[in-house]
Amino acid sequence: MSSHKQNGSRITVPKLVEMKAAGKKISILTAYDYPMARLLDKSGVDAILVGDSMSMVIQGHETTLPVTLDEMIYHGEMVARAVDHALVIVDMPFPSYLLGVHKAIENAGRILKETGAQAVKLEGGADQADVIAGLSAAGIPVMAHVGLRPQLVHRMGGYKVQRDEHQLLEDAVAAEHAGAFSVVLECVPKQMAAKITEKLSIPTIGIGAGDQCDGQVLVLNDMLGLTEGYVPRFVKEYSNLRETISSSVKQFCKEVQDGSFPADEHSFK
Ligand code: KIV
Repeated sequence: MSSHKQNGSRITVPKLVEMKAAGKKISILTAYDYPMARLLDKSGVDAILVGDSMSMVIQGHETTLPVTLDEMIYHGEMVARAVDHALVIVDMPFPSYLLGVHKAIENAGRILKETGAQAVKLEGGADQADVIAGLSAAGIPVMAHVGLRPQLVHRMGGYKVQRDEHQLLEDAVAAEHAGAFSVVLECVPKQMAAKITEKLSIPTIGIGAGDQCDGQVLVLNDMLGLTEGYVPRFVKEYSNLRETISSSVKQFCKEVQDGSFPADEHSFK
């Protein structure tokens, strides 16, 4: 079987894992739709995460909890269809992996079947080891996510830096032993993230976890300067698209008002 999506330059799960041993840093960004995923892929990002951050940055909710499995699949399919090169990972939304291993396999199976993505991500370490092991045994590649887990925002009482080194290490090691191919470390002091990175043979992907992780992930809307209001300290805004879009829209409104748009070159004879 051959497909243009399975070309030799495609980043696969094993290739991503090998990047750690080769000392090559891994770049990951989120995307939620076709045009952005296409741009990211053509710009050379190693992996694209269809994050449940979609609940906040696309749907406008206060937390990541409301987004549904069907919505993740709907957006995951658009992203996977756009991508030729990067590895596509889709987040398992709350509580799609918390209802037993059988249900988690059914839901993750739907994600891979219906989107065309290559892997799933779920929040958890030691507490989700049985689920990670079950999915891995079923042939579904799993990226684990430890440290700050946004789906636990109510239990954690907010989005806080996680400093329990023993727990962090236990979670990351348990995820690796259970078969995860990679682990996201969110909001972890950089020295602790460095220690975990050294201990694991699978790649660590940091977000607010310092420069010693094997890779970095950011939410696309945050790094493009599209997010209104609070932006976490760990985000670097590489653009200010709020300003670019807002001034373009203001200019359009002005030109419609004063009649300078459409000009002759935008009209048919
Ligand atoms: O949902 C998401 O975008 C994420 C990243 C922040 C890692 O989980």
